[in-house]
Amino acid sequence: MSKEDRHITWQASSLNRQDRENNNGHRSRTIWFTGLSGAGKSSIAFALERTLHEQGVRCYVLDGDNVRHGLNRDLGFTAADRQENLRRIGEVSKLMVDAGLLVLSAFISPYAQDREMVRQLFEPEDFIEVYVRCSIEECERRDPKGLYKKARKGEIPHFTGISAPYDIPTSPSFVIDTEQCSIEEAVQEIVQHLQRIGALH
Ligand code: PPS
Repeated sequence: MSKEDRHITWQASSLNRQDRENNNGHRSRTIWFTGLSGAGKSSIAFALERTLHEQGVRCYVLDGDNVRHGLNRDLGFTAADRQENLRRIGEVSKLMVDAGLLVLSAFISPYAQDREMVRQLFEPEDFIEVYVRCSIEECERRDPKGLYKKARKGEIPHFTGISAPYDIPTSPSFVIDTEQCSIEEAVQEIVQHLQRIGALH
């Protein structure tokens, strides 16, 4: 249905994103972490949030498990549900960028076409894709929530890397390999990148 058919009209605020960024003293962006369950997306996002917060940056983590407790509690893990999960999160991230925040979105986001859909919501400089790389063998060895064990026993359908696919990103902004570096090193790398692109002032 078109917006004409739904009788909806965009209502503009007298404030824009730039006004909010000026108040905050830094630029707003979405950093989108993608990777297998257990790769370290949430650990890096929350550690980065703490580091940036201590530097006075207004940031917020949108995390897969957490968002699925509320906003997306009606969605499961079929390809169609993951697409809708990421569409909603993309829109929420976009609103938060408009609000002047640095958004740290940590979702498996396994399908390349869904990541592309989210990317298209943003201006190119506003969307930074970080591939949190870790082999399936190592993720399974870590198994922090015991999910791989359950998935191997057939207790979790559509489990990414076991019974559902993960499309490896072909052109992420950068790659963090958590088999090679610590969470702290990953955070420092991202902070340096944000400084280089002028997002922190
Ligand atoms: S997705 O693919 O982007 O829509 O997934 P996401 O919203 O990030 O949710 C991933 C977390 O859900 C838990 N979980 C599963 N993951 C993968 N496959 C299946 N079938 C599944 N069922 C539950 C799991 O805790 C994921 O969290 P992380 O932090 O990635 O381990």
